Amino acid sequence: MTTLERNTIQLTGRSFLALKDFTEEEINYLISLAEELKAQKKAHIPHRYLEGQNIALLFKKPSTRTRCAFTVACTDLGAHPEYLGKNDIQFGKKESVRDTAIVLGRMFDGIEFRGFSHELVEQLAEHSGVPVWNGLTDLYHPTQILADFLTIKEQIGHLKGVKLVFVGDGRNNVANSLLIGGAKVGMDVRICTPKALFPSKDMIDLAENAAKETNGRIMITDNIDKAVHGADVIYTDVWVSMGEEEQFEERINQLLPYQVNRNMIEKTMNESVMFLHCLPAFHDLDTQVGKEIHEKFGLTEMEVTDEIFQSKHSFVFDQAENRMHTIKAVMTATNSRN
Ligand code: CP
Ligand code: NVA
Repeated sequence: MTTLERNTIQLTGRSFLALKDFTEEEINYLISLAEELKAQKKAHIPHRYLEGQNIALLFKKPSTRTRCAFTVACTDLGAHPEYLGKNDIQFGKKESVRDTAIVLGRMFDGIEFRGFSHELVEQLAEHSGVPVWNGLTDLYHPTQILADFLTIKEQIGHLKGVKLVFVGDGRNNVANSLLIGGAKVGMDVRICTPKALFPSKDMIDLAENAAKETNGRIMITDNIDKAVHGADVIYTDVWVSMGEEEQFEERINQLLPYQVNRNMIEKTMNESVMFLHCLPAFHDLDTQVGKEIHEKFGLTEMEVTDEIFQSKHSFVFDQAENRMHTIKAVMTATNSRN
């Protein structure tokens, strides 16, 4: 029997907007389903659970992984993906979000949305009548975290009790989702960031409440030594998220001490500590932005050194691949026909 067939977890028709809305069992189920779908893909076993369906992919910000993961996932599942970029539809410009949501819901079986305000994805879910999946907003990036947890499970074997340290911009979408998602599955989550970039009180409250239910632990600190000691996973993200590009100088000044480098990895005292990054990453000068930052501020690397990015500790490309398997799981589990 497959994970889907013996499943008692009911996610049919649900949207996937934020991990705060899901239980430990539901998150673990999505990861198990992703493991099974990954094994099926590797063995060339068809898994066309969305046969004949149509999926809208709305992107108001650029994307490599999320767009490709949704597109390939749709194709493997037998659905047609329709990419709608920021200048392709009237959404919010000449037509309200509500009206757009209703129209899309009349034609599509599911909608992915990447954009700025989190309220927009909530409105889409409220009015479209079909499952809506958050492909990143300014507040959360929940499909990323499922891929991260699958990657951790593949290496460590479990999630409960894993010491996961996020270093960098502690109040960005990835940090928020890791904090809440980690608490939901009983991890020991540590957000290591300067005080000015601490997560909001609401976010910390949500995580603390979740951790109480799962015996998870939460630490928010600006103290690097304390945070990384004994870490199983060191995770970082860009210092400047999409839409905040004018803040490079301030962030570099705040976050340079939080760069993931050999010194930080040694401080973990864990020979097999994993390094994770949602990507894209500034670890060399092979990007246009990397070159511009180098000219302006003299840095050759930002949030992670190339040495660590390329090292045996790094599982960033497993993480990237796992975006596709986990997104497939989310689409399959929430699909109204399953
Ligand atoms: N990690 C991630 O979401 O990558 P993209 O921005 O390329 O989708
Ligand atoms: N925090 C980053 C994540 C990119 C996947 C951003 O929002 O740009």
